[in-house]
Parts: sequence; C-alpha cells; structure tokens
Amino acid sequence: MSIIIKNIKQLLQIDNESRLLVKGSDMKHIDLIEDAWLLVQGEKIEDFGSMSDFNENDILKNNPDIDIIDAKGKMLMPAFVDSHTHLVYPASREIEYIDKIKGLSYEEIAKRGGGILNTAKKTQQISEDELFESSLKRLNEIASYGTGAVEIKSGYGLTLESELKMLRVIKKLKAASPLTIKSNFLGAHSIPLEYRGRQSEYVDLVVNEMIPKVAEEDLADFIDVFCDIGFFTVEDTERILKAGQNYGLRAKIHANELDYSGGVQVGVKYNALSVDHLEFVGDEEIKTMLNSETIPTVLPGAAFFLGMKYAPAREMIDAGLPLAMASDFNPGSSPSGNMQLILSMACILYKLLPEEAINSTTLNTAYAMGVSDKLGTITKGKLANLIITKEIPTYEYLPYYYGTNKVDTMIIKGRVVDIKN
Ligand code: NIG
Ligand code: FE
Repeated sequence: MSIIIKNIKQLLQIDNESRLLVKGSDMKHIDLIEDAWLLVQGEKIEDFGSMSDFNENDILKNNPDIDIIDAKGKMLMPAFVDSHTHLVYPASREIEYIDKIKGLSYEEIAKRGGGILNTAKKTQQISEDELFESSLKRLNEIASYGTGAVEIKSGYGLTLESELKMLRVIKKLKAASPLTIKSNFLGAHSIPLEYRGRQSEYVDLVVNEMIPKVAEEDLADFIDVFCDIGFFTVEDTERILKAGQNYGLRAKIHANELDYSGGVQVGVKYNALSVDHLEFVGDEEIKTMLNSETIPTVLPGAAFFLGMKYAPAREMIDAGLPLAMASDFNPGSSPSGNMQLILSMACILYKLLPEEAINSTTLNTAYAMGVSDKLGTITKGKLANLIITKEIPTYEYLPYYYGTNKVDTMIIKGRVVDIKN
C-alpha cells in the first residue's frame, strides 16, 4: 500500500538528522519545503521533496496501485504526539467543575473525597468492556484532532484489581487502534480514603503487590507517581521508582504541580524520561534538569482549566532545556485531548513561538514517550503518522486560528483513517 501526496503547500517539521529531541534556541526552528511531495510506502515515510523535482510518471511506473492525494493549499506535518494522558476513565466530572467555578480548589475537592477518588470509585464498579468502549471513542476523537501517538496512564483504579483492569484496557486499545500507544502504571495517583493516615501502607501495596503483578503481565511501559503536596512524598516516590526500576519500568512522573515538591529532583535522580506539570519550577529545578536525560513536560490544559499559575515554559527553553507540551486529557483537570488547542495555548499563554510550539507537541513529546526514533518529524524511514490540514494560509495560522479543527486528513501508520466521530 503506497500513497503519494503532491502539491503540498508547506511540508513542515522535516528533520534529516534524526534528532531525538530539540532544545533551547534550536526550538525556534522548523525545517520546511514549500510546494512539496511526500511518498508513503507501507507504514513508513519513503521519500519527499520539492514539486520542482517531482516525476509523477516515474512514481506511477514503480507503484501502479498507488493512491494519489492532491494537497493543494494544504499543509502536511507529523501527527501530534500526546505524551501525557489519562484517557481511560469511566465517567465525566462536570458537576465537580461547578464546585470549582464556585471557588473550591483542586486540593479542597480532593480532600473531600472528590477528584481522583470520585473517578476511582466508578472505575472499580465499571466493567472492563464498558471502560474499553468509552475509551476507544476518546481515542478516535483525539485522532480526529491530529494525534497519532499517545501515552495513557492507569491511576483511577487504586486497588490491585482495578489498576490491572485499566492497564488491560490500555493493552486492548493498543491492539484495536492504529495509534502508537504507551502505557504508564500510576498506582500512586492518590491515597485511597481507607489508607488516609497510613499512607506508607498504600505505598507498600503499590511496591509489593501491584508492581510485580503489572510486570508479570507485561502491562506497562512506564511507571508514574503523583509527587506533590497532599499526595505522595519524595520518600514514597523514591520507593516506588526504585521498585519500578527493578522491573525495568522507566519513570515518567507528575511533579511540582501544586508546590515545590522535590518531584523534579527525585525524577532526575531516577533518570525519569519526563517530569510533568511543573507549575512550581525555579532556578534550582531548572539547574537539576540541565545535563539530565529528563525532558520537562508542561500540561497547558490542566493549568488553564484549573486556573492555576502557568509553568515557566519560556524560562526553561531560554535556559537551554528541551520542552514538551501534552494534553493531560482527564475528566478532572483537563477534559480535552485536542492537541491543536495545546498548540494555541503554548503560544497564547506560555509565549512560545509557533515553531517552538510545534517542536513541543511533535518531536519533543515523542521523546517524552520514548518513540522519537520513529515519530515526531518528517524523516525518511519514520512511521507515516501525518496530518494533512485543511486549506490554510500559513503554518503560523495553526496556533492562531484557535478552537476549530484544522485537520482535513489523518494518515496513521501509512493508512488514511476515518476521522468522523
Ligand atoms: O494530571 N495531577 C494529577 N492527576 C491528574 C488529575 C486527574 C483528575 O483530577 O482526575 C492530572 O492533572
Ligand atoms: Fe496527569
């Protein structure tokens, strides 16, 4: 199966050097070809170039069954990579959102047994099949907005059985969907009510029962902890990350959303692939992340939805760090998995240039989920996860014209996918 896409107005985010991530001032650049073509063969990007060197007859001769797409007036770019989501969940939480409008904080709602614990109760009750069906719908929805790869966390189970149920659903999604999916075990997302006051016993459960079982069934690619005030301490986090390491699970953690929690430092100490949220980051945290392999990941949707302070994204890039931006799609703090909205927020709320925003949501999020050797740029040999946009004047228009879907056609692993919901 081959596809040739011709007359592309701008072919964006080309990388011939196969970089695994881009940092600091390099984030200001994206390479592009005006008036371009691209050839997809099987699941991969085979070749691309300028229309001035395009020989349609040659390509047709070598590929008689090829599909031809005319992208006149349209852009072609790598599909978004969303490296942080909780899109497996049983029910929405719009009623709690009203409490937030009335002024209750995220921590106050959590303390009353709302928030994550509210979703956990429903996750324990729902059947695996129902959870799978509703999650698959959301997966198809994010694909329609341009996402071609996604990391999905557990963490609404909070019991052994229920965490396994979530992870099995993610495993089934991997098999059912063409999207590239990585799963992250987040048993330490919140402390269940029955463990309040004896938090270390819940950490015992995560370390001694959950992690071995998750590893035995090969259900997770990564391990996560919500390391923050009112949730898990640095000591808890160390125990969990150490145990995960013993089973080959690399850390990708929630850190510094609610306070200077020490989460960034402990993440870097355990060579986390990413530390995520980062509203409370100062010079010390920035220094810790420089010269590490850990990529800072900002989640604009959560800060926007909760009305929190914004992470110092600009400062992190200006200090020379790489930066990723993901959706945090979840029912409590970010009920949207639309990465086009994240692209706009990157520019509007965090003062990233459009080029920095594109790097943050494609190549750098691919790094943050360990797939940047296969995804995140237009590079020969990478997987053909591609967005063909609607007719738009410039690529800068993508973050500028916010709130509408600019995706016309999605190609995932070399196939055009149906993006109607
Ligand atoms: O990433 N910060 C912790 N966890 C989620 C929120 C999940 C929820 O409220 O359901 C987050 O924002
Ligand atoms: Fe999250």
